[in-house]
Amino acid sequence: MNDREKAYRQIFDNNRRWVAQMRAGREDYFDHLAEGQSPDYLYIGCADSRVPANDIMGLEPGEVFVHRNIANLVVNTDMNAQGVIQYAVEVLHVKDIIVCGHYGCGGVKAAMKPADMGLLNGWLREIRDVYRMHVGELHGIEDEETRYKRLIELNVMEQCVNVIKTASVQKHWLKHGYPVVHGWVFDLHDGLLKDLEVPFEDMMNRVQQLYRLDPE
Ligand code: CO
Repeated sequence: MNDREKAYRQIFDNNRRWVAQMRAGREDYFDHLAEGQSPDYLYIGCADSRVPANDIMGLEPGEVFVHRNIANLVVNTDMNAQGVIQYAVEVLHVKDIIVCGHYGCGGVKAAMKPADMGLLNGWLREIRDVYRMHVGELHGIEDEETRYKRLIELNVMEQCVNVIKTASVQKHWLKHGYPVVHGWVFDLHDGLLKDLEVPFEDMMNRVQQLYRLDPE
């Protein structure tokens, strides 16, 4: 077995160790896990391997419903993201939806550079659109690193708006007062989460002036 194969095999050893850990002091842990899920949170984050949703939130299996893609985008025509949101809201009744970006995001960085990225062009165009919407503010920032960080934050906020545009979120919030949508940024340098304190109700009101999907 070469080193690569050994590393691969190691995953199954890790898995057995993890099973033992989870069952320590609670023999029926996996019986409970198999019964069903009722997470309070939907987390939408970047696919970046350095930003593992459960770990950074300190949550166990069953506590957070997760959707990840490059640069944590919520694209209005993406059946995957839209399906996840609808299921999380209508079936799981999540109380909070979190869009979590991260400083040092390669997807956002790629969108800041003029280059043909093939299949990714259409995906990264979503971030370029965010740039265009805030071009005045962004061009006013001279330091490139600061501008990059700001685009990461603005992208998170814009994806929060995209979550709010969905019919299931609008209807549920008007009827039950949840889910509430939050925007976060994770910092790879210190591991800390920053809540961008997006003005959720204000965003919801503004979105509903143009995109209202709840008929009542
Ligand atoms: Co990223």
